[in-house]
Amino acid sequence: MEFNNVYENAKRAESYSKLQFPGTYYLAYRDIPGLLLKHVKGRKAIDFGCGTGRSTRFLQKYGFDTIGIDISEEMITKAKEIDPIGDYRLIKNNNFEQLEKNYFDLVFSGFAFDNIPNTANRIQILKELGSLINNNSRIVLLESTPEIYIYEWLSFSTKNFPENRKAKSGDKVKIVMTDVEDKRPVEDIIWFDEDYLDLFSKSDMLLIDTRKPLAKPEEPYQWINETKIAPWVIYVFKKLS
Ligand SMILES: C[S@@+](CC[C@H](N)C(=O)[O-])C[C@H]1O[C@@H](n2cnc3c(N)ncnc32)[C@H](O)[C@@H]1O
Repeated sequence: MEFNNVYENAKRAESYSKLQFPGTYYLAYRDIPGLLLKHVKGRKAIDFGCGTGRSTRFLQKYGFDTIGIDISEEMITKAKEIDPIGDYRLIKNNNFEQLEKNYFDLVFSGFAFDNIPNTANRIQILKELGSLINNNSRIVLLESTPEIYIYEWLSFSTKNFPENRKAKSGDKVKIVMTDVEDKRPVEDIIWFDEDYLDLFSKSDMLLIDTRKPLAKPEEPYQWINETKIAPWVIYVFKKLS
């Protein structure tokens, strides 16, 4: 299957670089600090798929020493522009050689696996990420649930893509981000819960915690489906020692 990472694009990178944590994104990151506090010891962090550095700067705010890595030169360029003293690195062909092995306490990834096709490729990446951490470290993946692609949300629209309803893990789906200037549909890869669990076991990882955050009516947003249906899933896991 042909799949192009939409983030390898200057216009998309420019648009994404202005994104903070509005609406549905607030919900995505709301529970992350508590999970990091509960599960992660140590401060050395990799932000895999750091994009323009929004998630990396989020980790910095909670005291982590970060290296942001991404496959998109356009996104990394923007990250460095916004945070010139931050450490942001381009990685290509799943080659993590520039990073120290068994060194990091945390690998965080926000929405990168939503853009990664092919089971074997995903397993290879998870194994490579596993080689960067030690037996006490944690990997935290924050990703889209399959439901995000079939309902309407404060920060996303999918109503023009009814074909998303038939998609299976690994298929391409489309979604429009409504908080950014660039309203061209984003092409993502959908992945169901049971297939994430299968990926973790095939990558020699042990799942420790899972969350599907729901919004609360008292939060200061005009939630659409966020109080009833979870648009995001968070997996916390470690490598099998
Ligand atoms: C939706 S953006 C999220 C950026 C950031 N984590 C955030 O929350 O703001 C997903 C990022 O994952 C990156 N990505 C996709 N495939 C990747 C890969 N194989 N290796 C590293 N980064 C990848 C994309 O280039 C893009 O910058």
